Amino acid sequence: MEYLNKLKVKKAVIPVAGLGTRFLPATKAQPKEMLPLVDKPVIQYIVEEAVKAGIEQIIFITGRHKRAIEDHFDRNLELERALEEKGKRELLKTVKEISDLADFIFIRQKEPKGLGHAVLTAEPAVGNEPFAVLLGDDVMVGEKPAIGELIEVFKKFSCPVLGLQEVPKEEVSNYGIAGGKLVEENLIKVESLVEKPSPSEAPSNYAIAGRYVLTPDIFTVLKRTKPGKGGEIQLTDAIAQLSKERAVYGRIIEGKRYDTGNKLGFLEATIDFALMRNDLREPFLKFLKEKLKEELRDG
Ligand code: G1P
Repeated sequence: MEYLNKLKVKKAVIPVAGLGTRFLPATKAQPKEMLPLVDKPVIQYIVEEAVKAGIEQIIFITGRHKRAIEDHFDRNLELERALEEKGKRELLKTVKEISDLADFIFIRQKEPKGLGHAVLTAEPAVGNEPFAVLLGDDVMVGEKPAIGELIEVFKKFSCPVLGLQEVPKEEVSNYGIAGGKLVEENLIKVESLVEKPSPSEAPSNYAIAGRYVLTPDIFTVLKRTKPGKGGEIQLTDAIAQLSKERAVYGRIIEGKRYDTGNKLGFLEATIDFALMRNDLREPFLKFLKEKLKEELRDG
């Protein structure tokens, strides 16, 4: 694995095959990843984070009914022509830039066998290189791209790195939880990993926040990983196994995480993202203040 420290993390795997049942009926005919935060689909924020951290190639692990994602990252010549003719130059630039963000590869996950299986499906495109994994439900906002924080740690140790964030004890059963020793500020050496434990089984309250830098030896482990929680092949189980064979680190990510995979998290993200927009902040804040006053008055 010595060769790894000479390699840059250039590839990112983004699993997008999930059915999005938590957002039905909105996701009956469109992928959940295409739901917008203000006017940009969630998946584009994830891709932009990866690109900001130096990723050049995005490997989407996709499924049936996900064609809209392919179309979004492709050119749309008809639309471009129409915008050109109408002189809408800003919009034309916005639309064109999306397809230039990175090289995009799409691989179908033929059966919903879990996150571990989705990552294994990327093996032919990843090959023998370190790679990033970003989960589409976790939108991160911070000064630096969250996955970039993990890549920094990878550069130093040439080891797999997980993105972690503290969660309240009562929420540990929603996440993969990592236990270990703090070795530097915001960095732990992982000693145990459990997928969705009960609060009493959890080794800590450091949750895996949907960001990973992995080394290609994870594929060998994934091939022999048996179905775990929910009958699915769990990435957490495979990394737990790998951590017995080599060092695995957990980086406590500095930014704010929005879980856009659940309705409340999605609404919180929508409000915060609207407030971050210069064109919307003022009128939206005015609306929110009035709304809050009204709600408080009516009890
Ligand atoms: C997945 C992972 C879990 C991780 C979580 C982060 O779970 O299996 O370890 O903590 O993403 O969002 P999911 O939310 O897909 O059930």
